[in-house]
Amino acid sequence: MYWTKSAVIAAAILAFTATAPSTSIAAAQSTSTTIAQAIKDQPTGPEWWRHAVIYELYPRSFQDSNNDGVGDLKGITSRLDYLHDLGIDAIWITPMYPSPGIDYGYDISNYVAIDPLYGSMQDFDNLVAEAKKRDIRIIMDYVINHTSDKHEWFIESRSSRDNPKRNWYVWHDGKGQTATDKGQPPNNWQSWFGHSAWQWDEKTRQYYYHYFYVEQPDLNWRNPEVHKAMDGVLDFWMQRGVAGFRIDAVSRLFEDPQMRDDPYLPGHNAYGDRNIQHKYTDDLPQVHDVLKEVRKVVDKYPGNPVLVTEADEPNVQALTKMYGNADEVQLPMDFQIADVNELSAPRFRELFHQIENNSAHGQPEFFFSNHDQRRQWDRYGDGEHNDQIAKLMAVLELTARGTPQMYYGEELGMRTTDPARVEDVHDPIGKLGWPKEKGRDGERTPMQWDATPQAGFTTVQKPWLPIPPTSTKYNVETESKDPDSIYNAYKRLLSLRKTEPALRDGAQIGINNDDKDVFAFVRTTGDASIVVALNMSGKPQKIALDWKSIGVTGTKLAPLYSSPKFSTDSGDRLELPPFAALVAKIE
Ligand code: GLC
Repeated sequence: MYWTKSAVIAAAILAFTATAPSTSIAAAQSTSTTIAQAIKDQPTGPEWWRHAVIYELYPRSFQDSNNDGVGDLKGITSRLDYLHDLGIDAIWITPMYPSPGIDYGYDISNYVAIDPLYGSMQDFDNLVAEAKKRDIRIIMDYVINHTSDKHEWFIESRSSRDNPKRNWYVWHDGKGQTATDKGQPPNNWQSWFGHSAWQWDEKTRQYYYHYFYVEQPDLNWRNPEVHKAMDGVLDFWMQRGVAGFRIDAVSRLFEDPQMRDDPYLPGHNAYGDRNIQHKYTDDLPQVHDVLKEVRKVVDKYPGNPVLVTEADEPNVQALTKMYGNADEVQLPMDFQIADVNELSAPRFRELFHQIENNSAHGQPEFFFSNHDQRRQWDRYGDGEHNDQIAKLMAVLELTARGTPQMYYGEELGMRTTDPARVEDVHDPIGKLGWPKEKGRDGERTPMQWDATPQAGFTTVQKPWLPIPPTSTKYNVETESKDPDSIYNAYKRLLSLRKTEPALRDGAQIGINNDDKDVFAFVRTTGDASIVVALNMSGKPQKIALDWKSIGVTGTKLAPLYSSPKFSTDSGDRLELPPFAALVAKIE
């Protein structure tokens, strides 16, 4: 598994420290919370991204149009009708720029071109134009922390110590280095992908810094020329009509100028290194200056461009900082919620309450799967009721107030399909950490369009990653015919988000806040109210939904979505079947 920052720290120190008792939401959200107050407090605005559903798409794996076993831009264009029909408003495409492909596109050798593997710039322009016709916006991946070692900037930088681009990257002498001895790496900083973050360069006899793979040298964000060049990248894509950026690994931009060693944590990681807290290489305050700068650049363009950040902040306070004073990022991805990793009503309630009440009044951004994380079907499933749980998670993601971000195939119940043998692994961390760390191939397998052997993704025998055997059951074609499929649950919920004012614009207020099994909340505009009740346990739960406590009147429920189907005839008194999810109007 690819660990997030909070997961690493939590796992390492869990055994040693007692976790602080979490504040009772019931206490925090006093019973005097009125609808009027909640509506007043909620951040609103006309910007498109407040009401959008974002869909992350891994271009290698979505649709192959030229039958080389790898997805491409024309393939994506050919599936825009599918996305439109599903109810998607924006797609975030992970990097499709020229790249040696060590980190499958996250090692970029040219920021302002399209990798021929995926097509041409004309294909890209066509994709933007066709998407626009269907009201779908395109969000690009902005990989800001590092380039590929094959980028011409780095090739120049490493060519000599006095090259004008030397200082575009982070170079340092070794500890105890002499004219003949390279000494030791400058300090103990570690790569996220294992081992030292310093790589010796024989030609110019210095170490360069790489937070990720050796082939991904970090840009030096203390150099104004780097700012200028990277701002130019934003301009380039904005002028081609994109709607914003997802900013990669943004908390990693700066390192401690004093080069202090990072503190060790107990235990070892999958690569055999001592666990470490990235105290001096992560989340330095200067990150926020860069975010403000990025925002200024994109805000020159019309259409309310959006910025999404990947920064797996360890708590809501750190996450909140990403909003700045409404002058940084509009949608910081909420890794706390994504990583709950257990069906726990109290935990979800606490985290949703925290983000809903963030002090910046920022818009929440939820997701449960992405290209770095095992898919939610496996992480939240109990092995027996995974399909039912997948629908419950869909309800949580698509009815909560905020901007949901889906990952391709989650609408089908695609599961993680790890390589069976180390020889088959693509992702380098899977080779280095096998078998503890199998890499991220498992969550990047081809989209499952139909039940044919190649799943409608390609016609070649051997696509870049194998088609999961489960694709014969979990695929678009088969599931669209089954009214009770995961796919049809998503479709229905996505449509409700658009058509029901309470789900579109309503404030969110928790109810039954002490229930340990059922997470329930009301979305309300004042005029219209919808209750969402999620039984996160494998047992039936009797519950009296207490919407009166927050001032909502009404005695009857009119279900809009229910899985499984069960009786709601007795109004606020319900018996929820195991893992049931209900969305109902209060009338
Ligand atoms: C981000 C990406 C991940 C990549 C890393 C280095 O975490 O999501 O896929 O490997 O950055 O670019």
